[in-house]
Formats: sequence, structure tokens, C-alpha cells
Amino acid sequence: MTVQPFDAEQFLLSLNAAWKNLGLYSPTHPATTTALQKVHEALERLLGGGARITLGVLHDTLVVEGTPFTAKADLAEKLVVRLQQAEIQGVSFLKGCTVEELRRLVEALARDIKGLEIEQDLKKQGGTHILLVGVAEEQPEVRAEEVVPQQEQVVDMQQEEAMSLEQAGVIYSRALQTIRNVFQDVRLGKVPSLSEVQQAVEEVVGGILKGKHSLLALTMIKSYDEYLFNHSVNVGTLAMALGESIGLDAPALKELGLGGLLHDLGKIRIPEEVTRKPGKLTDEEWALMKSHPDEGVHLLKEMGVTSEIALHVVREHHTRHDRTGYPTVTPDEKIHPYSMLITLADSYDALTTVRPYQRTFEPNEAITLMKTLSGSTFDPEVLERFVEMLGIYPPGTAVRLTTREIAVVTRPRPEEIARPWVRIVRDPEGNIADGPEVSLMEWDTEAEDFTRSIAVAVDPVIHGIDVAKVLQGKGVT
Ligand SMILES: [Fe+2]
Ligand SMILES: [Fe+2]
Repeated sequence: MTVQPFDAEQFLLSLNAAWKNLGLYSPTHPATTTALQKVHEALERLLGGGARITLGVLHDTLVVEGTPFTAKADLAEKLVVRLQQAEIQGVSFLKGCTVEELRRLVEALARDIKGLEIEQDLKKQGGTHILLVGVAEEQPEVRAEEVVPQQEQVVDMQQEEAMSLEQAGVIYSRALQTIRNVFQDVRLGKVPSLSEVQQAVEEVVGGILKGKHSLLALTMIKSYDEYLFNHSVNVGTLAMALGESIGLDAPALKELGLGGLLHDLGKIRIPEEVTRKPGKLTDEEWALMKSHPDEGVHLLKEMGVTSEIALHVVREHHTRHDRTGYPTVTPDEKIHPYSMLITLADSYDALTTVRPYQRTFEPNEAITLMKTLSGSTFDPEVLERFVEMLGIYPPGTAVRLTTREIAVVTRPRPEEIARPWVRIVRDPEGNIADGPEVSLMEWDTEAEDFTRSIAVAVDPVIHGIDVAKVLQGKGVT
């Protein structure tokens, strides 16, 4: 679904007006009702026939259906501040939302209450078409005696032996070279070697089956100049790792990986001025962009790919869970369930990469943003598995520890998501440290507490940290 900035603007204008009205009149005063009717009309336009629209907050910016609303940021300010204060990540409006439901929302916004209470208010009259996203729940206190550090250490040692970062690096570089060759061949009018790609996929699958965390960490390698090549390898790897997490067997993973590595091959048919254009695309340029999934399928077939999975996932990687997106799918067309694995991997990698037309999101921010699109763009269940796999602090997240050290998350720990493995890159005084990888499960017996815990995620750029280098063990700046 494409949101028109103008419609978002009108919606915010009317919302702010109704909100202000509530300070002057009672919630049922005719003036308030008229104002709420205007919000309702603006919402209908914003929905534009779609089933759901989500407004989220990221970095003090309002994000409307995944697109940062920066045109008239001052219009969004009140809502952003209020959502942050209420500890809510976003609000979804479903088709069928009534004036009454909007009245309850605006009333709740005007009161000094938090997410859970707002949620209760919204549900007062039964079902609601307004859903809150990411309401902060009260955190249960972790009791120290529930943790068994000694045993955990043993498990960690075994995990480390699974596959080193160096071994993963070799697999990653080979896959990258293969993709370079494929794109180069197509550019020169040659048919690329399918067996070379299959070989690369096989190596990645082998690596993932041994233990996926080192390879996952490497997907944080981003390249501005070779964006499409790194992106292809990253998407293939992330999708295969996700496939493994949901129990796909090796043959299925290979077919999925083939599609993942080649998902954007069709972009080669689009001029670079279009694929790398920083501003808004013209209608013709946008039509060209939308042709890349089908162009990709065409090229894959030329290469001799017959895998149904690979051909489906390439065609459907921009098809959303609600069946919008591109290319247009007919009502009776079946979407392959594995396509969602590529869609998730594709969005995550794109969001965490600096590109000319978009700011980059830190890994945990990308996850937060993606959660606001659960149910519309993404299949909620598969998204949940993806988040589980990456953890709340995915590899590559820079964090400040309770020791005041700064570290980069290297490997998640699915069974204890707030305690991943990290590499220390700054000491407590802020000096550069090329520290070892440490486990946040490490227990200080004297203090009877964890040696280190994550205090907060921080921006690596502000701290001058080159995350890709850290993850590859090539220094810290
Ligand atoms: Fe694509
Ligand atoms: Fe892509």
C-alpha cells in the first residue's frame, strides 16, 4: 500500500485539531464530534481502501506505513511525544474504524495514561479497530538464583567451536564473488553458471547447519559501492538461517537460498540512475523498478533454474502478507509460503544499510520498525520467528554495558535474549579497546550479579565504531 504524504498530513492536522478541541469542550460536545468526524474522513482517505494503516515512532520520527513522515514533522510532533510518553511503538487503524473509536483514542491520548491503560480504554466497548503496537509490558524481575552460570559456560564453549568467524568469512567471500560473477555475466550478455551459484548456496547451507551465528554476524557487512552484491548474499544468508530456524531441511534450504541470492538479479535490467536515484521516482521509473521481480524470474529460467521454490520467491519477494505490493497478484494466485522469508530478510537488510534515499536503522530499530508492519507487510508468525532468531539485540547492535563499556553484539543467545555475546570496543573511560568476545552470562560470584549487562543500545556512528570490522575481527574503528 502506498501512502500519500498529503493524506498523512491531513490526518495529522485533523487529529491535532480534535485533540485540541478536547481541551476546550467535553468529549461529546458537538464541536468535538464534528472534529472527530473530520479525523474519520481523513483516516478513510489515508486507508485508501486498504485494510490497515500503521503509524509508528522511530528516533523521534513518525513512520507512516514504514515510511518516515518528514515532510511536515512539526505536525507529527505532538503524537510522537505522546506515544513515547505512553511507551507505545505505534498505532494501527483497521478498516471499519468508527468515529466512536476515534473518540476513545483521542480521549485516552488527552489523559496522562500509559499504553496498557490506553489499550483497556480502547477495548471498553468490546472489539476495536484501533490496535496499539509494542505496548511496553511490565518487566518481570529476573531472580539471580534462577540462573545457572556454570552450566551456561559449557554450552557457550561448545557453540564457539561450531564455526569460527574466519571460516564463515571464507564462505561469505566466496558467495560474494559468485554473485559478482553472475551480475557481470548478465551485464556482458552471457548466461551465468548455475552450478557456481549452487556451489555457493551449498556452502552457506553447510555453514548454517553447523551453527548460523557467525554467518549471521557477517550479514552486517554492508557496502555502499557494491550494495547489490552484499545485499544479495545477506538476503540469501538471512533467509536460509531463518528457514533453518523454522525447520526446513537441507534440500529446501538450498532452493530457498538460490532464490535468495538471486532475488534482485532482475535489477540489472534497470539503469543505475533509477536504482540509485536519491529522490522520488517518476511514474515511468517506478514502473521499471516494479518489473525487477519478473525480470529476475526470466533471467533465472535462462540460467536453467527449474526450482519452483526459487522461481516463486524471486517473483514474490515484494508481495506483502496482505497481498499488496508488486507485481500485482490475482485473487486466485497462490503465494509460496517461503516468499515471506525472503521478504523479511530483504527488508531487514535494506533497512540496516545506508542507501542514498534512506537513513539507516540500527538492527534493533529495524526490528522495531518491522514490528509496526506485522500483519500488513509481514506475516506475524514468521516475523516472530525472525525476531526470535536475531534476538532483541541482533548481531551488529552497539550497546552500552552496565560497566560503562561499549560493545558490539556478535552472536544472539536465543534462550536468554537480553544476554548475547558481545565484543568490547571501548573501555569505561571511552578509550578504544580491542577486547575479546565475552558472554553476558558471565557471573560475578563475589558481587552475586552478572559481570556485565546491557544498559542501552547506542549509535555506533557517534562512537566511531565500524561494526562490520568488529564483526570480522578486523579492529574496532
Ligand atoms: Fe527486490
Ligand atoms: Fe532486495
